[in-house]
Amino acid sequence: MPNVESQVEENVLNWNERLSSQIVSIPSSGIRVFFDIVAQKKDVISLGVGEPDFVTPQIIVNTAIESLRNGYTHYTGNAGIPSLRNEISNYLKNAYNVDYNPDTEIMITVGVSQGIDIALRSIINPGDGIIYGSPSYVSYSPMIKLAGGIPKTISTKFSENFILKPDEIDNACDSQTKAILLNYPSNPTGSSYQKKDVEKIADAVIKNDLLVVSDEIYADLSYDFAHTAISSFPGMKERTILLGGFSKNFAMTGWRIGFAAGPKEWIKAMLKIHQYSMLCAPTVAQMAAETALKYALHERDKMRDSYARRREFIVTEFNRIGLETLNPDGAFYTFSRIEKTGLTSMEFAQTLLEQENVAVIPGDAFGEEGNGFIRCCYATSIDNIKIAMQRIDRFVNKI
Ligand SMILES: Cc1ncc(COP(=O)(O)O)c(C=O)c1O
Repeated sequence: MPNVESQVEENVLNWNERLSSQIVSIPSSGIRVFFDIVAQKKDVISLGVGEPDFVTPQIIVNTAIESLRNGYTHYTGNAGIPSLRNEISNYLKNAYNVDYNPDTEIMITVGVSQGIDIALRSIINPGDGIIYGSPSYVSYSPMIKLAGGIPKTISTKFSENFILKPDEIDNACDSQTKAILLNYPSNPTGSSYQKKDVEKIADAVIKNDLLVVSDEIYADLSYDFAHTAISSFPGMKERTILLGGFSKNFAMTGWRIGFAAGPKEWIKAMLKIHQYSMLCAPTVAQMAAETALKYALHERDKMRDSYARRREFIVTEFNRIGLETLNPDGAFYTFSRIEKTGLTSMEFAQTLLEQENVAVIPGDAFGEEGNGFIRCCYATSIDNIKIAMQRIDRFVNKI
């Protein structure tokens, strides 16, 4: 794939001058560059892409096909289909004990990706600071910058299961800090927060008078303890946008559907951006999402149980090989320590791919704190994981 620089050289126009300087300054995703290499190789076992290996459950697919056949091919209202918002309100109440009014406090988004984007754009004034733990999901820093904000990371540590500490939040805040961006269970580390830890974060948020964008896309994929929504604590609902989705829990990454729940003033502001830039989330995907919540929770649970079994296997294998790996609390990623191999994360990932045809993601794609780590996605078949682990074992032993 030609990169932006080489395209610029080939062109008559100087695109570096024509494009927004902010866009020019933002690097392309480290993950994508890697996938381009993987796509050109044969017989690669990929532990790279962060998406379920399952296809969307049939009952959801059938609803979508039916809805198209029945002529649901038009726009919906900007906030999304009322019956889907109703269903999301019930789901949030039943699963996470949080109350949201489906008419004013819930909107349907084009994936959690769009939710993050418009939640940030609707609050950031130029120069506002947004804090978040690092390593983090790759989109956070670029999205904050694109909204005119200043990303400020708080380093989290392997020895502390990569969780944020309240005093670190206090220290990271200054007069420009507007909000904290949370993600638990986390991509890339798989770590999550027990109820008592979420409560401590909530206290720090209130103490520092922050808004919260809480990316809880992996909430339903929590293995060892129940997920606690931060908006369930007193005083938190009024300052939090809770982002949830269908991509990971219902194996619906390609449908591009998610939701945002929060105070009506904030949702109203997000809807302003949404109505001009997106109009509405895809109608067919909204229909499918409603069926997912109404009739496919058991399918979701089966997939979660399957990830849990794979988690056990891969974590045991990594530790047996000698690459220290914490037991992820949720999501479907391991974040393994590779420092002792003497290779950087990128060297490890590149050489492993060249020599053993296994694709993993260098940890520093998720921030500099990820240096010395690799991320593996275990949402792939146990057979694939077995072969991949044999190859990683051989690779590490040869170094
Ligand atoms: C933490 C996190 N947030 C958001 C997303 C994007 O999700 P969606 O497919 O709903 O846009 C991902 C996808 O990998 C993710 O890992």
